[in-house]
Amino acid sequence: MAVMSRATSSRWAKLLLLVAALCCLVYPAVSVKHENFKTCDQSGFCKRNRAYADSAAASSSSWVSPYVLDSASVTFSKGQLSGTILKTVTTSDRPVRLPITISFFESGSVRVTIDEEKRQKGEIELRHGSKARKERYNEAEKWAIVGGTKLSSGAAAAQDAQPGTSKIMYGLGTKFEAIISHSPFGIEFKRDGELHIKLNDRGLLNVEHWRPKIDKPQEEKKEGEDDNTEPKALTEDESTWWDEAFGGNTDTKPRGPESVALDVTFPGYEHVFGVPEHTGPLSLRQTRGGDGNFNDPYRLYNADVFEYEMNSPMTLYGAIPFMQAHKKDSTVGIFWLNAAETWIDIVKSKSSANPLSLGIGSHTDTQTHWFSESGLLDIFVFLGPTPQDVVSSFSELTGYSQLPQQFAIAHHQCRWNYVTDEDVKDVDRKFDKSQIPYDVIWLDIEYTDGKKYFTWDPLTFPNPIGMQKQLDDHERKLVAIIDPHIKNEGGYSVVDELKSKDLATHNKDGNIYEGWCWPGSSYWVDCFSPAARKWWGQLFQYAKFKGSAHNLWLWNDMNEPSVFNGPETTMPKDNLHHGNWEHRDVHNLNGLTLVNATFEGLVSRNKEEEKAGGVRPFVLTRSFYAGSQRMGAMWTGDNQANWEHLEASLPMILSLGVSGFPFAGADVGGFFGNPSRELLTRWYQAGAFYPFFRAHAHIDTRRREPYLLPDLERGIVTQALRLRYALLPAWYTAFHAASKTGAPIVQPMYYAHPGDEKGFAIDDQMYLGSTGLLVKPVTKEGASSVDMYLPDNEKYFDYSDYTSYSGPGHVKIEAPLDRIPLLMRGGHIVPRRDRPRRSSGLMRFDPFTLVVVLGNDGKAEGEVYLDDGESYDYEQGAYIHRKFTFSGATSSLASEDVGIKGKKTSQYLQQMKDVQVEKIVIVNAPSSWKSKTEVDVSEEGTTSSGSSKKAGFGFISGEAGKADWAVVRKPGVSIGGGWKISFA
Ligand SMILES: *[C@@H]1O[C@H](CO)[C@@H](O)[C@H](O)[C@H]1NC(C)=O
Repeated sequence: MAVMSRATSSRWAKLLLLVAALCCLVYPAVSVKHENFKTCDQSGFCKRNRAYADSAAASSSSWVSPYVLDSASVTFSKGQLSGTILKTVTTSDRPVRLPITISFFESGSVRVTIDEEKRQKGEIELRHGSKARKERYNEAEKWAIVGGTKLSSGAAAAQDAQPGTSKIMYGLGTKFEAIISHSPFGIEFKRDGELHIKLNDRGLLNVEHWRPKIDKPQEEKKEGEDDNTEPKALTEDESTWWDEAFGGNTDTKPRGPESVALDVTFPGYEHVFGVPEHTGPLSLRQTRGGDGNFNDPYRLYNADVFEYEMNSPMTLYGAIPFMQAHKKDSTVGIFWLNAAETWIDIVKSKSSANPLSLGIGSHTDTQTHWFSESGLLDIFVFLGPTPQDVVSSFSELTGYSQLPQQFAIAHHQCRWNYVTDEDVKDVDRKFDKSQIPYDVIWLDIEYTDGKKYFTWDPLTFPNPIGMQKQLDDHERKLVAIIDPHIKNEGGYSVVDELKSKDLATHNKDGNIYEGWCWPGSSYWVDCFSPAARKWWGQLFQYAKFKGSAHNLWLWNDMNEPSVFNGPETTMPKDNLHHGNWEHRDVHNLNGLTLVNATFEGLVSRNKEEEKAGGVRPFVLTRSFYAGSQRMGAMWTGDNQANWEHLEASLPMILSLGVSGFPFAGADVGGFFGNPSRELLTRWYQAGAFYPFFRAHAHIDTRRREPYLLPDLERGIVTQALRLRYALLPAWYTAFHAASKTGAPIVQPMYYAHPGDEKGFAIDDQMYLGSTGLLVKPVTKEGASSVDMYLPDNEKYFDYSDYTSYSGPGHVKIEAPLDRIPLLMRGGHIVPRRDRPRRSSGLMRFDPFTLVVVLGNDGKAEGEVYLDDGESYDYEQGAYIHRKFTFSGATSSLASEDVGIKGKKTSQYLQQMKDVQVEKIVIVNAPSSWKSKTEVDVSEEGTTSSGSSKKAGFGFISGEAGKADWAVVRKPGVSIGGGWKISFA
């Protein structure tokens, strides 16, 4: 939930009420309060770095970057190049020494880290008696990086480097090269001899070195005096070096200016993707003005942005500073490891390889410019060549997304608020009565006793255990919100411990930091502290969090952190965290640390769970950083019940998916405002294809649980929900793939078809994993059809009636209200479970349907992954992972084991042995099967004896425009077994 909403206690809340009331006058035509958030011009270091870029551009050819790698300092050994960059400040001063390391990893990724010697050694003076650390923040890696940093043994310095350069060959088969120019410093990265990434190509590298504050006599400036009368080129704008005021708060900046910046050029690349979280197109826009471009850089400074706007580079709740550049058949990427406020400028420039070639060979370069307020300059470079290679390298570093419990990928019902435990039970019963499946019901802040987390309101939730018991009867779960702000109220044990153990975030003076949030006056747990995380984690034990049961899971909101009376609705940057790091340094990691503590606490909440090896936690977070994907799901925060927000949810989710955080969703129905029936219906149809699928609504909205809809819409929404449940095996398989390879769960066109240029900018249709299911949710009011883009000449079939479409190009798909434009691409096999159930837990032993969609070449393949959907037993082999292949040549379908056996494999297989494939549908069946009435089925172990059995077969000729299809009834094979069905 965002800031400006109805709260019920404290004077502060009354003020908010007034503001909220004023807002309501214009409701629902609401919009973000720009004045609450900085533009680049209002952010000192952003303005300075842009000005630096402008002066570089203005002096173009005469511009020389003042950063030189001291050739004498360069050493290379064991996959690592080290040296010192010298920054010339003035001709008279000694140059500033900036140690640099360039690490070449076994994985083929490269890391370039630049520090500052004086700060590193603590040879600086802090102002205002600050206790802050003197070093540049060097612990972001502790949170974000979990693997992939084994130094390469094969990386080698090439002997043929030009004078004044170093050249390192690396990567598998040493097909990658890094050419490091010493003066000025810069790096070119090549793959197979071709240039893909240039660092400091435009000379915008900037490390604002430490300097003492020199108090100059105040120069008087006369009214109306023109600033431009004197040449300013060499003077720096010092106005925000030593302190910076915004919105009534002053940041004291005890370390002075300390930003880091670098330009990164992608020659020949027209598209860049990533750097969530923003609204706007998946293919990022240019940011330096002009038609259709943004005027401000993309900003990453996690914030609770109330009523955020569409199509904007403004910051939102989370930050992943990872970018991919893509062109036909090539993808490369970078990861800017920095947790401070960060901005990214993007400019695309047309250039021509040969000016005489008249367009031939002309191409677009994408030039990016990254700047962060403080910390190390730390950048990782990935050379691809496929989108999957880049995402997978990034995921290897920052961790793969969690394999969630199965319920977590089913349908969630949330609202601010279900007001009593009886209300929850009543909603639960109504879902059942209407036969609408759902797995999880959620409690927003009102369940607590006066916004004191880990308590229940004794009047409205007198029997939480009874409530959770009713949910558990149908394998349903409860998710409760717990935020990081702890109410400052005497006698509340959580705050008493927080204070007595000194585990809260401190202000700049080193005292406990106090601010305002939902409970009124609050303190913030400092999860950068190991002791605080340990303490926070144990609060979730059943014995501590009274009234919580094993089917209760967690929602961490407001973890940017949101502070109602703080600058930009968050903490002052000069606050101090564990280790005396300034909040400035760690801001974008703050949300991740809370989720980490919650996650670790939930793995086991009593001795029994601990002994069993723990349970997979479920935690939803609003704020995130690179690495948060290891711990659960995110959602896109407080959206609005309008068509624009529905439309925007797709590129947002796709962007997260290609940035390593695929478990993403948007509030179905829109958080603020009341959706029309049509909008709500369309939103459920889209939500059925969000990896994280939760309906949610603001406290001032009308109830909108799907059973409240009139018959028509209720039926349609129920269909969409059943579709989600039927496809859960496909979803779970996609989640499994994401947890192993980082592959997005829903995939944009460029990702699935990296050679198809027409698809690169498309962000309103997507594939579900590698299933070949291509969906384009309707996001326009009154639409009765959509134009879907087919990327290749494969055949595509309507999911429900097998209408056949051929690409490449656009096709019109009818989409009356009761239809989701959903196609099946030829060549794939999709696992389903078709029995409607109340919750996914009740489907555990349900039989499977396989849908085989034959491609142009008469082949198809697909897979299924399943396990118990809750424990960590899969880590010991307790899972089924089968690959299905339909061979055109032999006209047969086979199931093959692609899992790895472990201690618990046979036990799990035994448990699942009666779970069968009950039906196989073959779409685009060859007409030669027309007269067939049965097929041969052989199971593993019985083939040699020739004891195959028969299964019933039927062939259905498609009417005009529809594919022929066939069905195998009750083949009698197990989902976990090896078998082959012959259609010959
Ligand atoms: C949480 O953080 C700790 C300390 O950095 C780390 O050891 C642990 O692996 C993290 N947990 C997850 C799930 O990433």
